[in-house]
Amino acid sequence: MNSEHIQRLRAIVGESYVTQGDDIAERFRVDVGRRYTCQPLALVRPESTAQVSEVVKVAAQLNVAVTVVGGQTGTVGGAIARDGDIAMSLDRMSRVLEIDTLSMTMTVEAGCILQLAQEAAEAEQAFLPLDLGARGTAQIGGSIGANAGGNRVVRWGMMRDMVLGLEVVLADGTVVSGLTKMLKDNAGYNWKHLLIGSEGTLGIITRAVLRLRPLPTTRQTALFAMGSFEQAIAVLRRLEMALGGQLSSFELMWQDFYRTMTEAQQNFRSPPLSDQYPIYALVEAMGNDAQGDVERMEQAVATLLDEELVSDGVFARSSGQADALWAVREDLQWGLQGLRPFAAYDVSMAIADMPKFVADARARLEASLPGAVALFYGHAGDGNLHALVSVGELGPSIEHKMDEAIYGATRSVNGSVSAEHGIGMKRRAYLSYSRSEPELALMRQLKLALDPHGRLNPGKILG
Ligand code: LAC
Ligand code: ZN
Repeated sequence: MNSEHIQRLRAIVGESYVTQGDDIAERFRVDVGRRYTCQPLALVRPESTAQVSEVVKVAAQLNVAVTVVGGQTGTVGGAIARDGDIAMSLDRMSRVLEIDTLSMTMTVEAGCILQLAQEAAEAEQAFLPLDLGARGTAQIGGSIGANAGGNRVVRWGMMRDMVLGLEVVLADGTVVSGLTKMLKDNAGYNWKHLLIGSEGTLGIITRAVLRLRPLPTTRQTALFAMGSFEQAIAVLRRLEMALGGQLSSFELMWQDFYRTMTEAQQNFRSPPLSDQYPIYALVEAMGNDAQGDVERMEQAVATLLDEELVSDGVFARSSGQADALWAVREDLQWGLQGLRPFAAYDVSMAIADMPKFVADARARLEASLPGAVALFYGHAGDGNLHALVSVGELGPSIEHKMDEAIYGATRSVNGSVSAEHGIGMKRRAYLSYSRSEPELALMRQLKLALDPHGRLNPGKILG
């Protein structure tokens, strides 16, 4: 590509913020699953919305597309550029611009790391509820683009429920700014919600106003073992009532997931409960009444044990113990070493359909990949299950069989092939398992209306 074009990009963002070839850090050329690679024309790092807009305009003149690469934690090939296109990083746009503790909002640039946004809110006694394992890497813009979910959806909803205002750059470079702080706003079409979860295919998110909540000062974390899935649902419903709306996480782990994780961690972390039970629930409640909240949780646990809804349980007595319980669920890096390589899924369905789905998925896997290991866990309180499937090796034909089994079972319970991670490139072929032809046609119409020349994150979602 002609150096004149590179000069034009450099003139917009500054000499040192346009890199090419091997000077582009690897993470912008290879996605986190090492499945997709690209050789972008350039990596461009703007520092303002105006610069993003100018870069998009130049891209249009050069007839190349723009893909914003955030923290790369989505894992579905949603943020990898095409060869010869522009990869854009918003890492220079990472400021928390304002925390308004009267309106309880935070105005933040898209490149801000989620955890830094959480900490900035906490420093002002406020709370940004979105939380997920990749909090230290994921960026706010990507979390909005993917409509991230995570561990506290059961109480505070997904990213969509926290975005009050949004600023985006459209495919022709137009800046649309709707950085409002209002919870209620029915003035016409709510374009903001169209952009949230659009995976960078309809506009580039540059800034957002997020809704904050009062900072919880107490956290009660417990792990329960149960004899059946039906008991697990009963525990969920019981806790929702007994904890007065404070239940903030309800994560289920099927026995083989729990056993795999605790065995892999046993050299440095003793298993909190025996691995003899069919299913485990990690629950957390958050509140502001130091004494009352503990009593309420203790009372709830005692009742669950009395009624024999749970077979065993442990209640964290310190935040260190709470973190250790969470590690059983979240320390996948360690816990899943022995399982590599594996394929990962995030499907959703009505919670009552989960046992049927799990049994069906296992049967389909056994039929097409005898001996396959399938571990199920996830944000079950939200109807969201994660599955990890391994046969010791992974290639296109093996993965195809895994996909067919998991998504086939998902389709048969009218579930969604993506609860939270999105479609990206990895799940494109299965979008039709969850969306009807008229729905897909509507999506194509929307894409065509907002990005007629296919210049924003091409190849994602719809292909
Ligand atoms: C999790 C990621 C995989 O919940 O979504 O662990
Ligand atoms: Zn998840």
